[in-house]
Amino acid sequence: MITDKTRTAIITLQKSYPEKRSALLPALHMVQDEIGYLPLEAQSEVAELFDITTSEVHAVVTFYDMFFEAPKGKHLIHVCKNISCMLRGADGLLNTLCHKLKVSCGETTEDGEFTIVGSECLAACDRAPMLLIDEEVIGPIQDGALDQVLTEILLKVREGVNKNG
Ligand code: FES
Repeated sequence: MITDKTRTAIITLQKSYPEKRSALLPALHMVQDEIGYLPLEAQSEVAELFDITTSEVHAVVTFYDMFFEAPKGKHLIHVCKNISCMLRGADGLLNTLCHKLKVSCGETTEDGEFTIVGSECLAACDRAPMLLIDEEVIGPIQDGALDQVLTEILLKVREGVNKNG
């Protein structure tokens, strides 16, 4: 499943660390960049390259919300679920977003456009409640304006227009 080119890149990367296991995270990124996500078969192949078990790789993959075990959407929408955002209405934000896109948190829309990810603190607590669409931080999103803001954001992303352009 993993191409020879990526295998070679991983083996080269391993040599730049005293312990090859230290290269596991960048290696997983390489494989995810190549395949688009990290199916169990790919995790197993990574495990072989690192002389560790598939369970160990799986534990890493499922710990970080930047890794995906299923194909992800063209745009990632991270909704912060940590304390500052929670106290300022992140629950409602997430529910409205899921309702609008007709998916649950962690799922991808039917058209393959969006994947919603519930995240830990995204380091923009001063903008709580906030979300991150691809690279763009959006927030604070006020209660009353939530629906309208989300409609505008989704329209903008669907049209491929970014904040600066
Ligand atoms: S708690 Fe949400 S960005 Fe920090």
